[in-house]
Amino acid sequence: MHPLVNIAVSAARTAGNFISRSIDRVDTLTIESKGRNDFVTQVDRSAEAEIIKVIRKAYPQHAVLGEETGASGDNEVVWIIDPLDGTTNFLHGLPHFAVSIGIQVRGKLEHGVIYAPSTQDLYIATRGGGATLNNRKIRGSTAKELDSALIGTGIPIKPELLDAYLPMLKTIASNSAGIRRAGSAALDLAYVAAGRLDGFFELGLKPWDMAAGIVLVQEAGGTVTELYDPRGDVMKTGHILAAPHKLHAQLSDALRGAAQPIVPASE
Ligand code: IPD
Ligand code: CA
Ligand code: CA
Repeated sequence: MHPLVNIAVSAARTAGNFISRSIDRVDTLTIESKGRNDFVTQVDRSAEAEIIKVIRKAYPQHAVLGEETGASGDNEVVWIIDPLDGTTNFLHGLPHFAVSIGIQVRGKLEHGVIYAPSTQDLYIATRGGGATLNNRKIRGSTAKELDSALIGTGIPIKPELLDAYLPMLKTIASNSAGIRRAGSAALDLAYVAAGRLDGFFELGLKPWDMAAGIVLVQEAGGTVTELYDPRGDVMKTGHILAAPHKLHAQLSDALRGAAQPIVPASE
């Protein structure tokens, strides 16, 4: 295992164990709202602090981009962290959430670790080294046709994204085998890597939702693109489409055919 991945796994497990211990006291947590339907608790913050502690101990000079603490440090290695992806699920006692740690080296995503504490599933990918789930190699699904594919998605909250999104949802709902909205983008991507979902799309994600999952999907033989512009930078826009190679073009055509421009709400 690459030394960076070793540390990422240790950090993800530490945070994951902390989150698992905290689920019994969800009732006692103070829930703050960062925006409409965007909640954060002390568990999110403490989990991120635990992760950063593990990273800093091993690599004090590395940079970090964390959902809760933002960007810190200036280095060619950047750790991109979502300490708890699926906070809304966590708050409702729905055991579907994950710790996500992606590692970028000189601007390129190189490693991804996603850990789901409830199932103890550990997903790891390193560029050029393949992807694993609990130490076994994984590949994306062999689905070739949209009409038999199960597609994961996330439903945006922002009105301008929702307007653009709903026609896409309609197209995929009418032309696929089904849609799942499970509530953790990191796990959605991990599931595409593991072949549990045949594809995934969402608008307006943040770098920490996607970083680790992108490496996982790519190393499992899948394709990840910017949904509106396949040559665009998905880490910048957050509009993501991930699917196995053979299904990607079909999904992309269907989504882009239905896509509406995103019109920012006027002030
Ligand atoms: C959210 C989850 C959700 C996605 C949202 C994300 P959080 O992350 O990944 O599935 O639809 O866009 O913000 O807030 O639970 O870390
Ligand atoms: Ca997230
Ligand atoms: Ca989060």
